[in-house]
Amino acid sequence: MSSSKLFSAGSIGPLTLRNRTIRSAAFEGMCPGGMPSESLINYHRSVAAGGIGMTTVAYVAVVNGGRTFKHQAWMEPGIVPALKKLTDAVHREGAAASIQLGHAGNMGDRKVSGERAISPSGRFTLFGLNLPKKMSESDIEEIARAHGRAVLLAREAGFDAVEIHAGHGYLISQFLSPYTNRRTDRFGGSLNNRVRFLRMAMAEVRKAAGGKIAVLVKTNLEDGFPGGMGLEEGLHVARILEQEGADALVLSGGFVSKTPFFMMRGITPHRELISYQSDIVIKLGMIAFSRIMIKDYPYKEAYFLKDALRVREAVQLPLVYVGGLVSRKKIDEVLDRGFEFVGMARALVAETDFVYKIQHDPDYVSKCLRCGPCNSCVAIMYMGECRCTFEE
Ligand SMILES: Cc1cc2nc3c(=O)[nH]c(=O)nc-3n(C[C@H](O)[C@H](O)[C@H](O)COP(=O)(O)O)c2cc1C
Repeated sequence: MSSSKLFSAGSIGPLTLRNRTIRSAAFEGMCPGGMPSESLINYHRSVAAGGIGMTTVAYVAVVNGGRTFKHQAWMEPGIVPALKKLTDAVHREGAAASIQLGHAGNMGDRKVSGERAISPSGRFTLFGLNLPKKMSESDIEEIARAHGRAVLLAREAGFDAVEIHAGHGYLISQFLSPYTNRRTDRFGGSLNNRVRFLRMAMAEVRKAAGGKIAVLVKTNLEDGFPGGMGLEEGLHVARILEQEGADALVLSGGFVSKTPFFMMRGITPHRELISYQSDIVIKLGMIAFSRIMIKDYPYKEAYFLKDALRVREAVQLPLVYVGGLVSRKKIDEVLDRGFEFVGMARALVAETDFVYKIQHDPDYVSKCLRCGPCNSCVAIMYMGECRCTFEE
């Protein structure tokens, strides 16, 4: 087992991390009314104090209408002072700070933003029972520019990196996926057309980052269902992102509105998802259909490794492996197979000092595995909390 790489410094574009660990974006739900709270600052401070190389603030929308949750922030100037407090706190603990920027597209919630959801094709979606507006060309241009504006604010707030969310069935991913993109103009059809919005957003992001902060992109290996984006197209998107000047890719998969547990794996927390649902119509629908509609995916350590290795062969830029890492042994194996960084979500939701623990005890296995993983942390996210609910 090699131990030197994990705790050696590593670079992503202009940024150098103290080690190879990244706290993967996992929605904290700690921005009531859209404002980053003290709990959000304390959570990331404690992940930083726990030894992480870089922590990622999850799922901040680039515009108000891109929000899914009422405890979700969007990048407006009013939140910069609170975010600055967060980045200062993380830096004081010796870690770097990144922020994930995205747009919910057809999963935007009008009750949260007061705005109608938008999507590539304006098709009805069961997620939130939304009938979104089909985006016009000027909507597409405006949202691409909003990605750039969000990056400028992230710089002002002291972030060392941004992570553009191009996966999981959110807006960019809705353009990439043939399942949600039924357009017949220059934004739909061939992959070259479906990737056009991503290229436009990346051009704005790169310009705003100006080589001063690192640009990571979270992208799907595959959507995880027939009719969605498959692995061969996922490889092509990775190559395009390399050409577009991404500094690193974070590899994931799945589509929240179709295959939500493809990206997490383990036990599907049907009971908790139903009990935390506040919309009565959706709740009744879930009671009737959740076991039919939400597919289970068995957990194994490093479940995306085989597919992620295909990307490793296809591109040269730094790659962040994410998905099912809970032990030092597997983390070392992943780094030895050519990935520059490892990302972890549930291990750090369960224990903010997981990195410290594996540094001092190479046989340590995350508490997260003791429940299955049960994925109750995913369900409780809908209540505006980020914690492990497992009781020993
Ligand atoms: C509670 C929770 C919330 C999540 N929220 C996000 C999110 O906001 N954005 C995102 O890209 N991924 C999100 N994820 C997915 C994780 O970043 C990660 O890709 C996935 O959990 C697999 O990594 P793990 O096995 O280390 O947990 C979330 C995961 C969990 C458990």
